Amino acid sequence: MQFAIALMEFYRWAIRPILFRLDPEWIHRATVVACRTLGRSKVFLSALERFAAVDPQLRARVAGLDFPAPVGLAAGFDKNGEAVDLMSRLGFGFIEVGSVSEHPSAGNPGRPRIWRLTADEGLRVHYGCPNDGAVTVAGRLRAHRLAVPLGVNLVETNTGTVTSPEHAADELGVAVGRFIGIADYIVLNLSCPNMPRGGGLFDAPVKLAYLLQACARHDGLPPVFLKLTPSGDPGNPRVIDAILEAVDPFGFVKGFILNIPNPRPHATLRTSAAEIDRTRGGITGPSLLEPTKAVIRAWYPRIDRTRHALIGVGGIARAEDAYEMIRLGASLVQLCTALVYRGPGVVKRINDGLCRLLERDGFRDIGEAVGTGNGRRAIFEPAPIVATER
Ligand SMILES: Cc1cc2nc3c(=O)[nH]c(=O)nc-3n(C[C@H](O)[C@H](O)[C@H](O)COP(=O)(O)O)c2cc1C
Repeated sequence: MQFAIALMEFYRWAIRPILFRLDPEWIHRATVVACRTLGRSKVFLSALERFAAVDPQLRARVAGLDFPAPVGLAAGFDKNGEAVDLMSRLGFGFIEVGSVSEHPSAGNPGRPRIWRLTADEGLRVHYGCPNDGAVTVAGRLRAHRLAVPLGVNLVETNTGTVTSPEHAADELGVAVGRFIGIADYIVLNLSCPNMPRGGGLFDAPVKLAYLLQACARHDGLPPVFLKLTPSGDPGNPRVIDAILEAVDPFGFVKGFILNIPNPRPHATLRTSAAEIDRTRGGITGPSLLEPTKAVIRAWYPRIDRTRHALIGVGGIARAEDAYEMIRLGASLVQLCTALVYRGPGVVKRINDGLCRLLERDGFRDIGEAVGTGNGRRAIFEPAPIVATER
């Protein structure tokens, strides 16, 4: 724990100020290349593994897969599956690559496409899913065997024009097939805010069903999760039930990653209105935490927990954030932006903090804690969930 704290402090005071002077997209690319290069060193990897060793208390079994820890790397950092060897040794319990599309794409035109909202420890992202394409990424990943589950997040190809749901569905159906036997789970990214379509291509249940039929053509599908932004009020029971009904015939859908945008950036961010208006795209980081928790709170009681799991993502930077999402019903959580602001030591720090919180509340393992702040009966009375200071 002490070493993780020291590493985070070093990152914060010595490394971050240098990185933050440079263009964010350039630094993102340079970091992935550095991780790819360092990931070739067996000595470095085993040193990392020793540093980030995860307590067995944090093991979780979800969708038939074994996760050594409940905190995963969210899609977006390693879009092309180049850095999985190193990233899987930082203490993450799973790694999600992507978004990957059937065809290669340069993403959205113009620069910049990513901005730091430093006052809020957030980012604004307008990449538009640039990636090397499914064939190349599948070929790259085939060579790797990881000690943690590997997810591949898929999206329709960004060609710069709005595509139809049918075309996107057919394309995603083909892309899914490329990762059978390679990905331990697949995510269908239905909610990317910075694609030409904007949000919900598959909001209508009939369109969602069409997409899932396109995927169902394959034998041997791994567990599939849907990353979505429920339309309208994301916590509205009618909206939730309509989605659950649409996926009901498709047993390979094992759960949901709820992608909740910041509903009121001007009102909730410390970043000035002028700066917000100068940027565009999806906002990430801590401002998403409370809206995401609210939606998990609404979804958890409505899902069939024997069939579906929730993966919480949005603003997780501390053990308390992850734990609160888990107590509200997320079986797993993910993060991305916290790596940028707190450095790679953040994962170890969260894992250690989760062990402490489990011990404090008397849970034997992380699975016992899931949903206990949201109606699932615990064997005893755990501490109440209260909003905590950041
Ligand atoms: C630089 C960056 C790129 C991202 N690209 C993708 C992407 O390609 N596909 C996707 O599903 N999510 C993408 N995301 C969203 C993250 O997966 C996550 O949902 C979001 O950042 C909220 O989590 P965070 O606050 O921990 O970053 C991206 C996020 C960032 C910061």
